[in-house]
Amino acid sequence: MTSEQLLAPIKAFLQCDTPDEWITEAKKPENLKVLLVDHLICELKAAQTGMFLIRKYASDKQSGSALLKWFEPYEKFVYKKEGTLASLSEHHKLPKSLSAKSDDPFEQNLIDKMVLLIKEELHHFYQVLEIMTARGIEYNSIPAGRYAKGMMRNVRTFEPASLVDKLICGAYIEARSCERFAKLAPHLDDDLNKFYVSLLRSEARHYQDYLALAEQVAGEDISERVKFFGEVEAQLIISDDEDFKFHSGLPNLQ
Ligand SMILES: [Fe+2]
Ligand SMILES: [Fe+2]
Repeated sequence: MTSEQLLAPIKAFLQCDTPDEWITEAKKPENLKVLLVDHLICELKAAQTGMFLIRKYASDKQSGSALLKWFEPYEKFVYKKEGTLASLSEHHKLPKSLSAKSDDPFEQNLIDKMVLLIKEELHHFYQVLEIMTARGIEYNSIPAGRYAKGMMRNVRTFEPASLVDKLICGAYIEARSCERFAKLAPHLDDDLNKFYVSLLRSEARHYQDYLALAEQVAGEDISERVKFFGEVEAQLIISDDEDFKFHSGLPNLQ
């Protein structure tokens, strides 16, 4: 499948393209550091989203604890600046397989899809850190932008609506990442261009997995809710934003 074929459903799903002004900002050499550090943090957050969903909605207690342990070295690195590329390379494997808390087939499906997603996101995390290390870019924590919060504040507070909304938000975040990687890649140096294009396939699947899970757990048509979050997401992308991050809006940085 070519990049164009991968991107076609994503472009149809998203209600706007990344503005050219964002690309102009993102390709400035002085913004490479914030772009990579924010990307690194986004990969951990993407993996954590999968972990939270499994622990809250699908796994038994023991499996939940095994998941937390799996994340420890990555979280220590991002939140406490402990560890190195070398120490993280030993932590790629989930120590045991995870069990669902009941025989509801949705739980097993959520576990299967999210475990694969977590493995891929943590691998991306490692790859971004490898690139940063090779370029002498030091990791320092930076505050989160408005994007994910801006969507999550619209999540309903009762179940299963809350889970449906979280899954739809997950689908939008993955789809936007995929569209942005594809649009930005040709403007970066060869290594980063190749790396960003290599991410498209998994991010495209993550978006579809989230959407399929949302449809399964809702058990009814969710197109209205998808459209609603699509509008919220597009507003965050096309409205002025004083901050520059991987998911920021239209740059208004004076
Ligand atoms: Fe990723
Ligand atoms: Fe992803």
